[in-house]
Amino acid sequence: MIRFDILSIFPEMFESPFNSSLIKKAWDRQIIDIRVHDIRHYATDKHRMTDDYPYGGGGGMVMKVEPVARALDDIVYPGGNCQVILMTPQGEPFNQSIAEDLTRFDHLVVICGHYEGIDERIREHLVDRELSIGDYVLTGGELPAMILVDAVARLVPSVLGNDESARNDTFTMGRLEHPQYTRPQEYRGWTVPDILLSGDHKKIDQWRRRKSLERTLKRRPDLLETPPLSEEDRDLLEGIRKSETSK
Ligand code: ADE
Repeated sequence: MIRFDILSIFPEMFESPFNSSLIKKAWDRQIIDIRVHDIRHYATDKHRMTDDYPYGGGGGMVMKVEPVARALDDIVYPGGNCQVILMTPQGEPFNQSIAEDLTRFDHLVVICGHYEGIDERIREHLVDRELSIGDYVLTGGELPAMILVDAVARLVPSVLGNDESARNDTFTMGRLEHPQYTRPQEYRGWTVPDILLSGDHKKIDQWRRRKSLERTLKRRPDLLETPPLSEEDRDLLEGIRKSETSK
């Protein structure tokens, strides 16, 4: 069981995404536990302010430290196997290997950043890790938090049904997936490659590996630089590169 606590000033944003799909099923089956907390509840002033003007002037508002600190005091048990994450465009780029790494924890607390910025003391004293979901700026950390929870939750054993597998994922294997087809065999004249209907599993496996490498080389050549390739894949890749240059 992995527990996610999300701190947000818009907790209602999480209702719909977490109340459908495999995340909801896993929650119902108590494989994961997700709790969403309104940061505003932890604000002490009469207007329940979670932001304030920046010291030193300038535009925009800054997320206050006290409500976040008080929320964490309430949620994080000392000595627990917990990681506190801040979603921010300034964070380390989130990817599949970080998602895998996060499954080591029993408890993930995700703070959704907001406003022009956050009080730096949140970063310095309260957060273990800062993550960004990409080089673009959203209105807040809620959508990024949903992405993080989804990506981590599906790696928890038995969250995915039998029809899905986290093992052969694009990126887990360091390359993009090969093309897939299902019935019908022909639609509007668009046909399924003969080899997939041949029943020759060795050939099918080779074809899939080649297609996966071709696609990765074309769309994400950077992925081929990091993982060690098998000798067979190196030969395949060499062949693909040669046939591309002779076209
Ligand atoms: N908050 C706003 N934009 C973000 C991003 N790209 N990643 C994480 N948190 C964010």
